[in-house]
Amino acid sequence: MAKAIVEIKNVNKFYGDNHVVKDLNMEIAEGEFLSILGPSGCGKTTTLRMIAGFEQQTQGVITVEGERVENKEPFERNVNTVFQSYALFPHMNVTDNVAYGLKMKKVKKPEISERVENALSMVQLEGFGKRFPAQLSGGQRQRVAIARAIINNPRVLLLDEPLGALDMKLRKQMQIELKNLQKRLGITFVYVTHDQEEALTMSDRIAVMNDGVLEQIGVPADIYEKPATKFVADFIGETNIFEAIEVSADAAGQVALKSEIGEITGTDSEFSEGEIVYLSVRPEKTLLSAAPVSGYALRGTVRENIYIGTVTKTTVILQNGQEIRVANAAGSSVPEAGSALYVYWNPSDAVIIHSKSGKIIDAFENVDLSEYVEGSA
Ligand SMILES: Nc1ncnc2c1ncn2[C@@H]1O[C@H](COP(=O)(O)OP(=O)(O)O)[C@@H](O)[C@H]1O
Ligand SMILES: [Mg+2]
Repeated sequence: MAKAIVEIKNVNKFYGDNHVVKDLNMEIAEGEFLSILGPSGCGKTTTLRMIAGFEQQTQGVITVEGERVENKEPFERNVNTVFQSYALFPHMNVTDNVAYGLKMKKVKKPEISERVENALSMVQLEGFGKRFPAQLSGGQRQRVAIARAIINNPRVLLLDEPLGALDMKLRKQMQIELKNLQKRLGITFVYVTHDQEEALTMSDRIAVMNDGVLEQIGVPADIYEKPATKFVADFIGETNIFEAIEVSADAAGQVALKSEIGEITGTDSEFSEGEIVYLSVRPEKTLLSAAPVSGYALRGTVRENIYIGTVTKTTVILQNGQEIRVANAAGSSVPEAGSALYVYWNPSDAVIIHSKSGKIIDAFENVDLSEYVEGSA
């Protein structure tokens, strides 16, 4: 990783008794596009506001460019924020909106003009200087807000769901634009979103938060293909999850597991007999067979097929009622609704997630564990 420009060390934030950011540790690299992703209320905005200086952490240390920032006002930190509600002044034209901060700082007029022109060309709004916010589209207003934020050449730009108010099509277009802008500017973007697709599209790395806890930080492919926790597996994309006990492993790392419904198979480099884990397998890696498949006791009935253009989504209901989602690429054969089939996958396509607690979970109430628990065999 490149040098860290923002470091967050053991940061906790309480609002009264409400512990909203829990022992957060994160390094943000110089020049990277980092997304903070998680459901509403998980602490994304609070984290961003602590970096920006609008909020003070209860415990822990935040540094920007190696310097502790707790005693610095927002304007003294080399960061700038773009808010979801663009916060443009309606009575000022685009030029004056973008120039506002420089005027406050008493920068000389010719320099202001040059820098405003520069910032507007960065966001591809040359020639829009005389327009008022009401005369702009949502996407253009968003770009004005960004021009205003980059005019001070911040080293870090903090963006809090900046595309939240735009419709889907414009949003997709702005995602690409913002990503390109970040590359052109070469500054660090810390981008808050609750939209996993947006995070996957735009980011160099993604930090996934849940209930104040950083669950995983990594490149998009790792977050998707090697989720570290059940929450991440569930939140990013669609997946089929089984709770299971690890039973045995062969020399190649292929692992036999016992789930509530029966035997399943995966691959695990950290096999531990008797441990309860989650096995996660993506719909596009989930396969169906007319005949039983050795290693998988997953018989089910096809409930429905939904054609969505690029794939057909098939829902299979297992005998214990668990719903399994299967994505068949367009053109491949699709099983008939009502038909009985067996679900399986390639063991190397299944991700095994080690639950931290390892405690016996309700799902195993009706399973005889004695033969699986270490030492009792
Ligand atoms: N100023 C505040 N005072 C009290 N509680 C707050 C304040 N801001 C946020 N919270 C609470 O902190 C938690 C995290 O909020 P927030 O960081 O805004 O989440 P997110 O941006 O991920 O939706 C929520 O439970 C929210 O209600
Ligand atoms: Mg928020």
